Amino acid sequence: MPNVANPLEGKVPVKLPGDEKELLALLDPRTLPRHVALIMDGNGRWAVQKGLPRTAGHRAGIESLRRTVTLGVELGIAILSAYAFSTENWRRPPEEVDFLMNLFVEYAFREIEKLRSQGVRVKVIGCRAELPPTVLAAAERLERETASGTKLLLNLAVNYGARREITEAVRAIARKVQAGELSPEAIDENTIARHLYTGDLPDPDLLIRPAGELRVSNFFLWQLAYTELYVTPVLWPDFDRVDFLQALVAYQHRERRFGGLKFD
Ligand code: IPE
Ligand code: IPE
Ligand code: MG
Repeated sequence: MPNVANPLEGKVPVKLPGDEKELLALLDPRTLPRHVALIMDGNGRWAVQKGLPRTAGHRAGIESLRRTVTLGVELGIAILSAYAFSTENWRRPPEEVDFLMNLFVEYAFREIEKLRSQGVRVKVIGCRAELPPTVLAAAERLERETASGTKLLLNLAVNYGARREITEAVRAIARKVQAGELSPEAIDENTIARHLYTGDLPDPDLLIRPAGELRVSNFFLWQLAYTELYVTPVLWPDFDRVDFLQALVAYQHRERRFGGLKFD
């Protein structure tokens, strides 16, 4: 279709360099996002393209998460929220669900030392009630043993669904109203935000969506209100330092208005 404006024009530099040093030189350390959300998607496709079982893709996805966390720490990004398993992912074949649950336990035990040494604090967000006991125990241990990390907060979203999160928040607020601790008139946007798993954290500045899907798949529906969206066709296991830096440089080319007028 001719004469249709490119909706992305000006939103990303015309051509992003593919070299880490060049990208680092373009990055302004003063305006990095404080909070980056990641939808770790495309593991299955990555594996199938290589003639491997889908599970191999999930394993490779863990390496990708490690790389991303390491760069986040190096750059001084305060919060990373990584979507690992959704409330809808239980619809997958039981073998794949079991594999993912076991992989989380394996990840938790294997990564603790590295995360601690990097100063990463992990928080597992999602509906805990439905998690198998081994996963719950691993999540609690990961949180406990990384509790003193001050460099980067890693929110790992496991059995996370934004609609579930909002539903649980509404229930908790309703209980307070019923107990006479809160009046309905006192409920404002902050009340709701504080009852979400993300509590007092700032909303994500940037959402990175690999694997090319143009949807948010029930991630952070409340928190994404004014988040900048970055979609890349790169499959999550292939997402590397250059891809992360490209997303950050692209983010720095956005003009955030929050409904107001251009401010500079
Ligand atoms: C993301 O990769 C991991 C989870 C959702 C657990 P997928 O498994 O969704 O990979 P694709 O989308 O099938 O390629
Ligand atoms: C989103 O990926 C969830 C996670 C990455 C954990 P999905 O593969 O579940 O998303 P859809 O089904 O393609 O929207
Ligand atoms: Mg997927």
